Amino acid sequence: MMFSVDKVREDFPILSRNINGKRLVYLDNAATTQKPRQVIKALTDYYENNNANIHRGVHTLSQEASDMYDDAHEKVGRFVGAKYPKEETIFVRNATEAMNLVMYGWAQHNLKEGDEVLSTVMEHHANIVPWQFLREKGVKVNFVDINDDTTLNIDDLNEKMTKSTKLVTCVHASNVVGTINDVKEIGKIAHDNKALFMVDGSQSVPHMSVDVRKIDADFFAFSGHKMLAPTGTGALVAKKDILEKMHPFLGGGDMIREVKLEKTTYNDLPWKFEAGTPDIGGGIAFGAAVDYLKKLGMDDIKKHEQKMLEYCFDSFNGIKDLEIYGPGPKDRSGLVTFNLKGIHPHDVGGILDSEYGVAIRTGMHCAQPLVERMGQSSTCRASFYIYNKEEEIDVLIEGLNKVKEIFGK
Ligand SMILES: Cc1ncc(COP(=O)(O)O)c(C=O)c1O
Repeated sequence: MMFSVDKVREDFPILSRNINGKRLVYLDNAATTQKPRQVIKALTDYYENNNANIHRGVHTLSQEASDMYDDAHEKVGRFVGAKYPKEETIFVRNATEAMNLVMYGWAQHNLKEGDEVLSTVMEHHANIVPWQFLREKGVKVNFVDINDDTTLNIDDLNEKMTKSTKLVTCVHASNVVGTINDVKEIGKIAHDNKALFMVDGSQSVPHMSVDVRKIDADFFAFSGHKMLAPTGTGALVAKKDILEKMHPFLGGGDMIREVKLEKTTYNDLPWKFEAGTPDIGGGIAFGAAVDYLKKLGMDDIKKHEQKMLEYCFDSFNGIKDLEIYGPGPKDRSGLVTFNLKGIHPHDVGGILDSEYGVAIRTGMHCAQPLVERMGQSSTCRASFYIYNKEEEIDVLIEGLNKVKEIFGK
């Protein structure tokens, strides 16, 4: 049975906050989600009862903290279907760091002048900029175009794939238009051409059931903080055999087995890629976030967001001069990007906040090439999650009508 949104809302203290005299309507979930008591409690419980550094103490607290932190890796890895959940799950600060880890750890050591990386124009900057760094060493970086309906242009992908392409990378669900890429198909094209395949799952893992093995992703990056976990959490899930051969990203404590002045050997997975003291409490709370989502069920979460999308599309239809970008409600993840003709998104967002307590995102959404490819310079984005209700979309609509009235549209 579908979860009760009202019951879910009770777990999120921040949702009872008033903003500018109005009850908060939080529609900026694609940027970061709110956190339930269960996650906040996991964090405070850890600091109140178990806090110690991990993997290096014989004392009880250190062993407890180590077990809890290790378990969180297992939970997160299992959640996305990793074959070896603990070894293949590296905790990082965010999805950006996960992608930089692949660039510094794998690409910098395995790619040479003349090799190619193929990304797409529909990426977040985190899946564009790190690859551009490789140009300094003569690696070619190319970007697959989209069709006018914002789906990925698979013909263009096939055309841009060459014998020198060593890595294909793309977003699973777009943070700007919600388009869901057929990552299984894209991965097959990459592998048929002997390239590795990386997926940016920042906007898919929080919203739908994901199986990295079915996708056959070599590297899969996502953020914890977009799926109820604290900020400062994220993961790179990657195939064990690749990680074993890969160069570490950062050097220092905990990532080593033995250090001699002449030569150092590295620790087992995943610790080889987690140098220094990590965000232990955050990692444990990331595990608690996964527990929370699993209890609701990812299929039901997707259904709930689908309902919200359909309601939002229907309501938007009634607003003259409102333009929605991207695919229809059935083919997108839980967000809607739009503009009110002749009104700057920053004005829309500002009025929604100050008059209605509605939080939306406005601007480029850290995806300037995509927004410009769509012929825009800025858009408004409302993004939904497990605690959003249809009534909140009604408040958004009321706010948008007010914005139009203020601007005489
Ligand atoms: C598709 C996508 N990729 C990457 C990121 C970067 O995530 P983080 O801020 O956790 O590094 C985001 C964040 O908005 C995103 O939406």
